This record gives sequence, C-alpha cells and structure tokens, in this order.
Amino acid sequence: MVSAIMKRRSIRKFTEEKVSADSAMRIVEAGAAAPSAMNRRPVRFILLDKEAMARFAEKVAQKEPFIEGQWAIAVCADRRGYDQEGAWLEDCSAAMENILIAATEMGLGSLWYGVYARPAKEPQVREALKVPKGVEVCGIAVIGHAAEEKEPHRGVDSSILHIGCWKE
Ligand SMILES: Cc1cc2nc3c(=O)[nH]c(=O)nc-3n(C[C@H](O)[C@H](O)[C@H](O)COP(=O)(O)O)c2cc1C
Repeated sequence: MVSAIMKRRSIRKFTEEKVSADSAMRIVEAGAAAPSAMNRRPVRFILLDKEAMARFAEKVAQKEPFIEGQWAIAVCADRRGYDQEGAWLEDCSAAMENILIAATEMGLGSLWYGVYARPAKEPQVREALKVPKGVEVCGIAVIGHAAEEKEPHRGVDSSILHIGCWKE
C-alpha cells in the first residue's frame, strides 16, 4: 500500500474503459474503513454512476473529469447531532484519502475535487446532489482509467521537515 500512496497522482483525464460497480463498491468500502474521531462516524457517501455524473457535470465548474470519469464518490458528513466540533472534516479527509489510495492500488486514476468552503462550487454541488441542511460535502472523488501518465511521488524535501522542534 505504501507504493500506492507514492503512485497516487491527481488524474484529470480518463479513458472510456469501464470500471465495474463491484470495483466502485470496493473503493467506497475503503473510504468507510477510515478512522473517525471518537468513532462517531459522521461520514456518508453519495455514489454517482455515469448517468448521474453527466447530469452533475451540467451544473458544476470543472466539468471534464465528471464527463470522462466512470464513477464519482461525494464524501459527506452528517453533522446533525454531531458532537465533535470540526473533526468531521478530518474524518472526511481520511475517508477521501483512503478512496484515492484504494483506487490507485486497483490500477485506477482518481481526483479529489474540492467542495467544502469554496463559494464558487459549494452551492451548485449541494443543489445538484440534493444535500440537506446539516450535511456537509467535503469533496468528490472521481474515478476511472487514467488517460494521462504522471511520475510517482518520492522523497521528502528538506524544507518541509523539522527534526525535534520547529526551526525557522
Ligand atoms: C482538498 C483538496 C482539494 C482539491 N480540489 C481539486 C479540484 O477541485 N480540482 C482539481 O483539479 N484538483 C483538486 N485537487 C488536487 C490537487 O490540485 C493536487 O492534489 C495537487 O496539485 C498535487 O498533485 P497530486 O495529487 O498529483 O500529488 C485537490 C486536492 C485537495 C487535497
């Protein structure tokens, strides 16, 4: 799995090759396996097939991945009755990353489409997905077979690592 972590890159162009519903569900399962603060598990998923993605693409910015991709998974949090303050966003982010890594491990390309706290996107996405008040949309994972090749990540740039304590 470490190799899938390093290989994961943002893919924005996808081929027409199908991805089975079974594969999509395995990816959702990886999202559902993410850790959750105090195990409150507020994360919810909305799975979009090609038909739903085509309808969705008509209403949002950056349409191409939704037109070309095979599946999209909106990672949401149900905050109704939720008592862990802002931790729902961390739970959603952990779920999202699991989804992207699982897709990479399965030989698929993926993209994290950011939604939460983006005024230019959030209202349109919420309306298109019929998300009720009290439920947040963190972001949407788009999944498909990659039509672009990208180098894997490697190494740690020294500028991002402090040893022992923060050093200016
Ligand atoms: C919270 C978050 C939101 C993002 N939103 C978008 C987005 O809306 N559209 C997009 O094309 N890429 C989006 N990305 C992907 C980033 O642009 C990408 O991760 C970054 O350029 C690094 O490239 P890599 O993912 O290939 O390592 C998002 C990434 C994160 C973590």
